[in-house]
Amino acid sequence: MSRISISDLAAKKRTGEKWSMLTCYEQMTAGIFDEAGIPVLLVGDSAGNNFLGEENTIPVTVDELLMLTTAVVKSSARAMVVADFPFGSYEASPEQALATGIRFFKEAKAHAIKLEGGARVVPQIMRLIESGIPVMGHLGLTPQSVHALGGFKVQGRGADGERIKQDARALQAAGVFAIVLELVPETLAKEIAEELTIPIIGIGAGKYCDAQVIVWTDLMGLTVGAPKLAKAYRNLRTEMIAAAKEWSTDVATGEFPGPDQTFH
Ligand code: KIV
Repeated sequence: MSRISISDLAAKKRTGEKWSMLTCYEQMTAGIFDEAGIPVLLVGDSAGNNFLGEENTIPVTVDELLMLTTAVVKSSARAMVVADFPFGSYEASPEQALATGIRFFKEAKAHAIKLEGGARVVPQIMRLIESGIPVMGHLGLTPQSVHALGGFKVQGRGADGERIKQDARALQAAGVFAIVLELVPETLAKEIAEELTIPIIGIGAGKYCDAQVIVWTDLMGLTVGAPKLAKAYRNLRTEMIAAAKEWSTDVATGEFPGPDQTFH
């Protein structure tokens, strides 16, 4: 079975078929989401605050995401696996970005990378693409810049929308195959999705985007205090607490292990 490619995603834009991307940080969910037919798995730096116990994405390191990306690639067969560039791994220069990209391609065997920012990171994007590394952009609320942006606030309201549009045009001209647009007004996302020829992947960007991405722990109801942009389709937190309590009670009362779990 061949993996989803950037050409497949470009074709979906042409035909208007909407698609989905889920974050994924390890083996079990990689296998599950691949089996569910999710075409793109993002090993996001959101692993920081959803998997690694950090307050936000900023402390995440290349070595951490390399390990997680390796597990996701090994445990999926059909999905395209996109690895996020952590803060501090690409901003300094195109050479730094290329060195990071090479590690993700050679060591983790990622199929594409994602990095945050607009016109300021175009030289990095061009260097990666000319070396054969497909790049996904990320505009709007870019969590690695949360302190500079003054918090997790909607971006691109009013006249500021023009700045995001120009960044989107610059990224498309640089050759990115898709752009994540996070926490922007729906009308702005619609205008960008209609104007650009590459897929626009929304998160808190309304329904007119070509695709949607969500953090998997938000989707499954594991996150305490999930953001408004997310919708929980299950409540796995409640389910898992109940299962853990049930098992623990069975251990205490001698119900577990039962005959099926016992060897003679
Ligand atoms: O790191 C991440 O999970 C992301 C998505 C929210 C787009 O960047």
